[in-house]
Amino acid sequence: SWLSGYLAAWQGVSAGAAAVDTSLTVLFGTESGNSEGLADLTVKRAKKAGFKATMLNMSDAEPKDLEKVTNLLVIVSTWGDGEPPEAAENFYNTLLTESVKLDDLNFSVCALGDTSYDQFCQTGKEIDERLAELGAKRLVDRADCDVDFDDSYAAWADSVFDKLGSAASAAPAAASFAAAPAIEYGKKNPFPAEVLDSVVLNGDYSKKETLHLEFSLEGSGFSYEPGDVLCVVPQNADDVIADLLEAAGLSGEEEVELKGGEKKALKVALKQDLDITSLSRKVVKAWQEISGSLKLADLLADDAKAQLKEWINGRQIVDLLVEFPAKELSAAQLVSLMRKLPPRLYSIASSPKAHEGEVHLTVAAVRYNSNGKDRKGVASTFLADDAKKGDKVLCYMHHNKNFRLPENDETPIIMVGPGTGVAPFRAFVEERAERGAKGESWLFFGDQHYNEDFLYQLEWQDHLKNGDLTKIDVAFSRDMPEKVYVQHKMLERAEELYQWLEKGAHFYVCGDASRMASDVNDALIEVISSQGGKSKEDAEAYIAQLKKDKRYQRDVY
Ligand code: 2AM
Repeated sequence: SWLSGYLAAWQGVSAGAAAVDTSLTVLFGTESGNSEGLADLTVKRAKKAGFKATMLNMSDAEPKDLEKVTNLLVIVSTWGDGEPPEAAENFYNTLLTESVKLDDLNFSVCALGDTSYDQFCQTGKEIDERLAELGAKRLVDRADCDVDFDDSYAAWADSVFDKLGSAASAAPAAASFAAAPAIEYGKKNPFPAEVLDSVVLNGDYSKKETLHLEFSLEGSGFSYEPGDVLCVVPQNADDVIADLLEAAGLSGEEEVELKGGEKKALKVALKQDLDITSLSRKVVKAWQEISGSLKLADLLADDAKAQLKEWINGRQIVDLLVEFPAKELSAAQLVSLMRKLPPRLYSIASSPKAHEGEVHLTVAAVRYNSNGKDRKGVASTFLADDAKKGDKVLCYMHHNKNFRLPENDETPIIMVGPGTGVAPFRAFVEERAERGAKGESWLFFGDQHYNEDFLYQLEWQDHLKNGDLTKIDVAFSRDMPEKVYVQHKMLERAEELYQWLEKGAHFYVCGDASRMASDVNDALIEVISSQGGKSKEDAEAYIAQLKKDKRYQRDVY
């Protein structure tokens, strides 16, 4: 009967399956949540393919945990100068320095990164090498993904699951994974948000151009929380496109084919789809092949890495075309140099409770001069120059679970946010005011000049008056002969700052990652050691505990 056949088949399956280890661990290290999102997707797919899949955050893992694992998929991003995500630091350091036995482990690594950085995917590369060194076997080769990681990730996941096979044939076919939900707005289909308002926050005499932008989310279906990030899909500026076309000797009317197979006029692709400015070693190499330039070949030599880096610094793709001209250049060749235009992430400056149906951003327009040429940041000047009231801007939400108000509204919060780093704290203070939160709050803000650059000054004064903000300390760096920064204010307030930490305050930092965030971290160590009577090591341990308890959160860029 069909039943006995079915039972026999079922027993066959389970007997066969017993020999195969169907457990699978997806280990991730995440900073802004991308790796975590992909890990989640991978676990779901694995479950559909019949695996007993579990997700493991590097922040909660130790390398020796891997000794018990048979199948391991690692998804990890790289930050700044080739560094692991903060929450993954301990795991990474221990893995690289201590020995564990991984002879029985099968693994593969999906590395996230950004080709415009020198140390592209460094953390993923190191983890991949180290796992092999410790005896583990690669299921499939590592994937190194650029900012626009979806396709590379999908190709990696396909080959991983091809290799692993379906763990239990009784499980639905892996293909059913592809079934997509009904069309909705998101990364694949950004929402055109109307600009409701755009104002410059700085005074007329400021050196800065900081914008406050308000967008309508009406009809998007998006929701967000303070701490979340809005991803803006920018467009390239017409003058930058014109310069490039001139240097390339092309009209822009040529038809080109993009990676997905879509065909359009070159000028449209340059406007909407392609990263027409960013240089990296990869781009320089591709251009060397097209131009045949011997000078560029020298610059690409292994012993010229420092010179190449210096040459790239402050330059753009157009400079390659001008300084190392090619005899002939086709539209397809030009397009082949360029990656997809990446979206830009901005920390949200509003609470959705205070501004229903809206999202606000605080954006510094980046304009500078390099090698005698005026240059501008793609997305920030797109927002400043081409996103006027009534215009629509493509965007989607990115949820950042690593930057959140305390669950308990009575917990005190300390916020350090110089310049545009103040954005999420406007959202935090608004949110707590709306919730009627009782917890104390303390803002450290800094910028160049009190008269010109005190972003949201009137709002802070209102919040202070209403008791929604308990304290504010400001550092204006260029009003006096000596620079005063937020970390100096923290040191001046060391005693009270330490008291707040001791009574359970959460400590938040947002803004510049290159120097500010580490200077603020140093100041925090100083505060804890001087006020707590601790050695530097003990102060660092105190900070490590704060991080572990999610009481020290950073959103730095
Ligand atoms: P500066 O422009 O005078 O150097 C916001 O940009 C504020 O952060 C400015 O006042 C800026 O000062 C200041 N800033 C610059 N470098 C900093 C650092 N390493 N730590 C803290 N603040 C810094």
